[in-house]
Amino acid sequence: MGRSDRAATHWDVAYGRGERTVSWFQPLPARSLKMIEEAGIGPAAALVDVGGGTSRLVDELLDRGYGDITVLDVSDAALANARDRLADRAWQATWVLADVRDWRPDRRFDLWHDRATFHFQVDPADRDAYVATLDATTGTGSVAIFATFAPDGPSHCSGLPVTRYDSAGIAAVLGNGWRLMASDHEDHHTPSGAVQSFTWTAFRKR
Ligand SMILES: C[S@@+](CC[C@H](N)C(=O)[O-])C[C@H]1O[C@@H](n2cnc3c(N)ncnc32)[C@H](O)[C@@H]1O
Repeated sequence: MGRSDRAATHWDVAYGRGERTVSWFQPLPARSLKMIEEAGIGPAAALVDVGGGTSRLVDELLDRGYGDITVLDVSDAALANARDRLADRAWQATWVLADVRDWRPDRRFDLWHDRATFHFQVDPADRDAYVATLDATTGTGSVAIFATFAPDGPSHCSGLPVTRYDSAGIAAVLGNGWRLMASDHEDHHTPSGAVQSFTWTAFRKR
């Protein structure tokens, strides 16, 4: 089994337990919406939610009139769940079943949003593959927003090890091609009542 098949199986099983059992569930992606607005990304922009899963970010963006939204995830179960929720609005977004590390779309995005996959890239080769996709998929002026576990956050998510970051750590992975625009901290409250410390960052591509 290759790395993408392993990832797909892992995440399909996680979502199979029920969306509201997962630690990352949030009824409203308030921080994402705030960062997107503050970065000046408006409804005409092309957005991709990387590892979007069953996040309600796509619903909220559609409500706000965004017209070019792509949701990418390695889990078919997650994408099917999100499409079912959106029902007759699902066609308004583009759904991509892919591993971000291998994805090479024939277009670019104004906004890359990831509250999902960046901190799972603990292997340097996976990190390089992730950044290669990010760089191939964005252009000068594009914005990239990342939410990762913070240095005082958990060491694992969904049973998988993560790298914990502050803004400087993320900047170091992205390299000089990206300029840090904003950073923030969030205490995420999981459905089971735990508190997880997150680092939020926004970068603009030079
Ligand atoms: C912690 S969940 C976050 C989901 C969503 N962003 C949210 O905020 O609710 C991580 C998500 O990333 C997806 N994922 C994990 N590894 C991936 C990869 N290599 N490529 C694409 N998606 C991936 C999982 O299927 C899952 O939906």
